[in-house]
Amino acid sequence: AELAHKDNTLNGKKVLITAGPTYENIDPVRFIGNFSSGKMGIAIAEAFYNRGAEVNLVLGPSKEPVPGGINVINVRSAQQMYDACMALFPDTDMAVMSAAVADFRPKTLAEEKIKKQDDEGMTIELVRNPDILKACGAIKSDKQLLVGFALETNNEEENALGKLKRKNADMIVLNSLNDEKAGFGTDTNKVTIFEKNGTIHRWPLRSKSELGVQLADLMIEKINESK
Ligand code: CTP
Ligand code: CA
Repeated sequence: AELAHKDNTLNGKKVLITAGPTYENIDPVRFIGNFSSGKMGIAIAEAFYNRGAEVNLVLGPSKEPVPGGINVINVRSAQQMYDACMALFPDTDMAVMSAAVADFRPKTLAEEKIKKQDDEGMTIELVRNPDILKACGAIKSDKQLLVGFALETNNEEENALGKLKRKNADMIVLNSLNDEKAGFGTDTNKVTIFEKNGTIHRWPLRSKSELGVQLADLMIEKINESK
């Protein structure tokens, strides 16, 4: 069903969201992927849509439903996600990169199904994918707000702060893995948000849809402050 904008706070503003996993093809029948569902990014897209924004959602392979009204750009690989974002970001007011982008892809795509060799192990050579958040950070203007996510298993805060700096983001949302109700596939998430100015928000466990609304509203506060 087509959603109506609930209010017009962001009328005329354009928002770019990445969400879901990427799939990196190995041969015609195999790929490298990850367990991202896309739920978090879709919730953020919905929250911005409800505030009146024009929302472009660049979505990797995901089975989750996307509410009507949101412009969905379906992609499969990191390279496709990068190309779509590079085309959209210059004309974007606020961007949230929540996709679980594969850091690597197979160096070559086999044209035929790869056959196993008897008794041998098997190696696939991988090469780096472009970093979408970093590329956007490198061309960001003062009027644009750019938010990334981080998923860490150790030195969480230090690593998240490193990503904030290295990618020239305005905020990093650190996903907590220290809670079984948070993360891939769940309906809830526990995050810590690091702002460029040093402010830290430690938010307790909440539903992904609530988190989407509160993150969107925090970003709206920031973009209004900087005017
Ligand atoms: N990201 C991206 N493009 C990539 C890799 C990551 O846009 N090729 C974005 C993610 O969407 C997320 C942020 O960068 O918003 C951090 O992703 P993460 O995987 O935690 O960080 P990496 O920089 O890839 O570092 P590492 O995986 O080595 O910890
Ligand atoms: Ca990564």
